[in-house]
Amino acid sequence: MVEYESYSSALRTAPAPVFANLVHYATLAANGHNTQPWRFHAGTDEMRLLPDFGRRTPVVDPDDHHLFVSLGCAAEKLAIAAAATGRSSEADFDPKDGLRFWFGAGAARAHPLFDAIPRRQSTRARYDGKSVPNRDLDALIEAGKLPGVRLIVLTDRLQIGRMRDLAIACNSVQLADPAFVAELKRWLRFNPRTAMTLGDGLFSASTGNPVMPDWLGQRAFDLFFTAQSENDKLFRQIDSSSGIAVFVGERADRAHWITVGRACQRFLLTATCLGLKCAFINQPVEVAPQRANLANLVGETGKRPDLVLRFGYGPTMPYAPRRSLETVVV
Ligand SMILES: Cc1cc2nc3c(=O)[nH]c(=O)nc-3n(C[C@H](O)[C@H](O)[C@H](O)COP(=O)(O)O)c2cc1C
Repeated sequence: MVEYESYSSALRTAPAPVFANLVHYATLAANGHNTQPWRFHAGTDEMRLLPDFGRRTPVVDPDDHHLFVSLGCAAEKLAIAAAATGRSSEADFDPKDGLRFWFGAGAARAHPLFDAIPRRQSTRARYDGKSVPNRDLDALIEAGKLPGVRLIVLTDRLQIGRMRDLAIACNSVQLADPAFVAELKRWLRFNPRTAMTLGDGLFSASTGNPVMPDWLGQRAFDLFFTAQSENDKLFRQIDSSSGIAVFVGERADRAHWITVGRACQRFLLTATCLGLKCAFINQPVEVAPQRANLANLVGETGKRPDLVLRFGYGPTMPYAPRRSLETVVV
């Protein structure tokens, strides 16, 4: 039987930065629109990871699916960072209260995914189109396996082409919706100083776009951000990818969305260890009427797919900003 000590008693006896370190690693997780919709709390006998509903994106994510997937991504990083520093962890999830973690004492041990945490990024660039060796594909599939989640990996060019066409069709739907575009624009950060000051949002340089003063960025967005230009970019990016991964939860509820986030983070960190880059192409998940087509495409008819991402070999881009720890600890 494992004896679990309380996290905060460990906190009291351990050097003070331990809690901050764990939170820091957790906040490096992938999350929708980089809103970072999480808060962390060290209680008397547990640590909590709470949803921050003030950071919802109601247009693209009306039922908070992405928000809970993002929490799952942070949860997995927290668990990996804890394991690497000698704390086994158990977590439970309550739809009202978020995740509760208990930590067990143990010896610090090297964790292969831990070192990849600060290096992982969403790389929205063209990749080189090279195939991934089978043993690395197997490692990715193994990493993304968690009970309650199906991971489908496509490497066949015909299937990748079908996914590309679906993503582009959905992108056109989204960019024709003024509410979607207005919400997206709210989270764009054109200027490095603004991006670093706010510590959130989609920073131009990280998304492969030029940096400029905020006023000019807003104008340039209105003038040059068109469905045609974005679709052309998406076409080239998907065609240059080695493969596509699709995560499908067994059920469409918050608990499964958290598990999908955890599985996805393991996949992304394993990809990072293997020298691969990844980027989400979630349009077919976000345009609700197209979800059935996506499910059919990956042989999961009747299910609600959760995440689509592409992977391949590509350049390292500037990293996305993060909010300071003080703003996420409550
Ligand atoms: C649930 C979820 C949905 C996402 N959807 C998209 C997407 O459709 N397109 C995209 O380019 N990035 C998407 N992302 C990636 C985030 O924008 C990215 O994680 C965030 O900006 C932080 O950057 P980083 O991953 O480089 O740390 C998504 C991430 C998550 C967790």
